[in-house]
Amino acid sequence: MSKLWQGRTSGDTNAAADEFNSSIAFDKRLYKQDIRGSMAHAAMLKKQGIISGQSADRIIGGLEGILADLESGRLEIDPSAEDIHMFVEQILTERIGSDGKKLHTARSRNDQVALDTRLWCLDEIDGIKKALFGLIDVLSARAGESKDVIMPGYTHLQRAQPVSFAHHLLAYAWMFLRDIQRLSDCRKRTDVSVIGCCALAGTTYDTDRALEAGLLGLSGVNENSLDGVSDRDFCAELLFDLSTIMMHLSRFCEELILWSSWEFRFIELSDSFTTGSSIMPQKKNPDMAELIRGKTARVYGDLMTVMALMKSLPLAYNKDMQEDKPALFDAVDNVKACIAVFTPMVSEMKINAGNMLSAANGGFINATDLADYLVGKGLPFRSAYKISGELVAFCISNGLTLESCPIDIYKQTCELIDDDVYEAVNIENCMNRRTSLGGPAADSVERQIASLKKQLE
Ligand code: ARG
Repeated sequence: MSKLWQGRTSGDTNAAADEFNSSIAFDKRLYKQDIRGSMAHAAMLKKQGIISGQSADRIIGGLEGILADLESGRLEIDPSAEDIHMFVEQILTERIGSDGKKLHTARSRNDQVALDTRLWCLDEIDGIKKALFGLIDVLSARAGESKDVIMPGYTHLQRAQPVSFAHHLLAYAWMFLRDIQRLSDCRKRTDVSVIGCCALAGTTYDTDRALEAGLLGLSGVNENSLDGVSDRDFCAELLFDLSTIMMHLSRFCEELILWSSWEFRFIELSDSFTTGSSIMPQKKNPDMAELIRGKTARVYGDLMTVMALMKSLPLAYNKDMQEDKPALFDAVDNVKACIAVFTPMVSEMKINAGNMLSAANGGFINATDLADYLVGKGLPFRSAYKISGELVAFCISNGLTLESCPIDIYKQTCELIDDDVYEAVNIENCMNRRTSLGGPAADSVERQIASLKKQLE
């Protein structure tokens, strides 16, 4: 393709430089947004009398044809074009002649690419939000069926206090709800039209930027042309939001990997989301969960790419910024793929309630409850804590648990202790008495599910 920008220069560019400069290999993904933007631009130029109605109509008709032909495969994107913006304009001019050359009046590729990227982000944000809704639905459903499944809650990966499996699942549902809220917030700052900033300094034509934004369905117009063409905050912000989603997924995956090990056996992943070993016949490996954990690194890398890319860039447009798109596309693709695998994996996993309960019974996770029992009998918490600790130490060295510790040992250690201690250290009771706001008891779990549902509406 000959170059639309050739004027000041006339000599051929170096072939390696051409290839190096080209972004079509990745920004071809913006073709829909680019055509949509150009249609709105032509309509605005017509309305403002900047180009004739006839020219504008021919441009819009031509763009419609290009879009249809790209979608049907009748038109292929030329990999030797410089970028998607040049490609579309060049084909348009090939097809409709000199009217096509009027499309680029009162705009620049600098505002064009910023607009296209924003439009693309908006579409993807909506899709990812929807996927997260689906994931929260699955978590709520699984929580609904495991309200009475008791497991040890951990700190430092040491058994700490009893929770329900439902409560543990819902902890993640709340993270994903915040992820949705973050995306909605990012959406507001992305939903701003920058077309009309032109190369950097606006234009002398009587454009109507608000009209053009309206035609594009965008909510606002940015107010400084230099900022408009050089702002990639919305990319960095989306990448941070995506990184946070991945952080949550990777923490969850880490737990699924642990829980599905023979050491835990709290859950079993379904065959459809595990792989075997080529040498060890007994293996059932949680590859999908591990890969999601691994892809988190990649998405973090994409965020760092854009942060580093934008660091110290002078105003306004710099070609460095072309590198924003591979990072953005990679992160969005990976997050979508991860949620798409993760959601059915959680939906299909088997919950081994018995193993969770055994783990809950064996780890002195009722020691705090014993101390609380003594507080109920009138001891200050610190003193109660000490007595409970002594009893735990005794049980450990004598192969006992707080449930099986004989009453005379209890009474010898503290005269305030009575037969009702066994009710106090019963694991099920310990879990169900945790009715404080946000606690793991069944009622609280139900409240959480209802509240999540309400907030998603
Ligand atoms: N392909 C370019 C990008 O992605 C489009 C903008 C080019 N603008 C320019 N002045 N060379 O950033």
